[in-house]
Amino acid sequence: MKIGIFDSGLGGLIIARAIKKSLPKYDYVYLGDTKRVPYGNKSSEAVFEFTCEAVDYLFRKKNCAIVIIACNTASAQALRAIQQKYLPKNFKDRRVLGVLIPAAEKASIYNRIGIIATKGTVASHTFPIEIKKLNKKSIIYQNPAPMLVPIIEEGNNKLIKPLLAKYLKPFMDKELDALVLGCTHYPIIKKEIKEYMPKKIKIISQDEIIPKKLKEYLQRHQEITKKLSRNESMKILVTDKNQNMDYLVKKWFGKNKVTTISQLF
Ligand code: DGL
Repeated sequence: MKIGIFDSGLGGLIIARAIKKSLPKYDYVYLGDTKRVPYGNKSSEAVFEFTCEAVDYLFRKKNCAIVIIACNTASAQALRAIQQKYLPKNFKDRRVLGVLIPAAEKASIYNRIGIIATKGTVASHTFPIEIKKLNKKSIIYQNPAPMLVPIIEEGNNKLIKPLLAKYLKPFMDKELDALVLGCTHYPIIKKEIKEYMPKKIKIISQDEIIPKKLKEYLQRHQEITKKLSRNESMKILVTDKNQNMDYLVKKWFGKNKVTTISQLF
């Protein structure tokens, strides 16, 4: 059986690349719902519906034993319902994990925390709720950064700096200890974010957290790990492919063939 990695689009390839580097021997299927991206400005009902369909596809059609939801918006708005309602009803013996809680755990060791994410993730308040559970003293500031994803995908470096100035400026007088990059695309512009923020602020980036967490999870959950095949393969699937995608997949993941699937369900 395989490890599934799901994102609303291609940003999750950054997490997939980091996971594959740290755990190379397993077989992976990446699914990007590029036909319906972005999820960040959709209703939580739509995000749940789309995420559920993707997880179901990875379980039923791609024989995944475990799926990592490498999308913060989906982790914030759909993961809990999938774990509590969908899994017990449909696949008791399979697992779905998200990327938000591990970042919230890491953030919770700090007291003054900034978060940039999509509108949907910010509106869900999932980051502040989860961080507060672990650190009651924490003071959390959130700022949605809706224009960053399309600009990162466009690869337009000239626009990134002014946009970062717009989205990060509100944090400048907050005396932050840490800033969470709460969207799969933001590790791609980590360098620019670090350049903008004062050096003493810790930048929390999921590509540096998730592989270790997954490794520990697989060590603890042998009932899943023993089902995983080990042929070092990686398949990248998208629900729609445009002219720019081969370029982005090459840039963000390294060489790989992208296959379009016509229907998720
Ligand atoms: N993958 C999404 C996230 O991490 C960003 C792109 C989108 O809005 O769908 O929140």
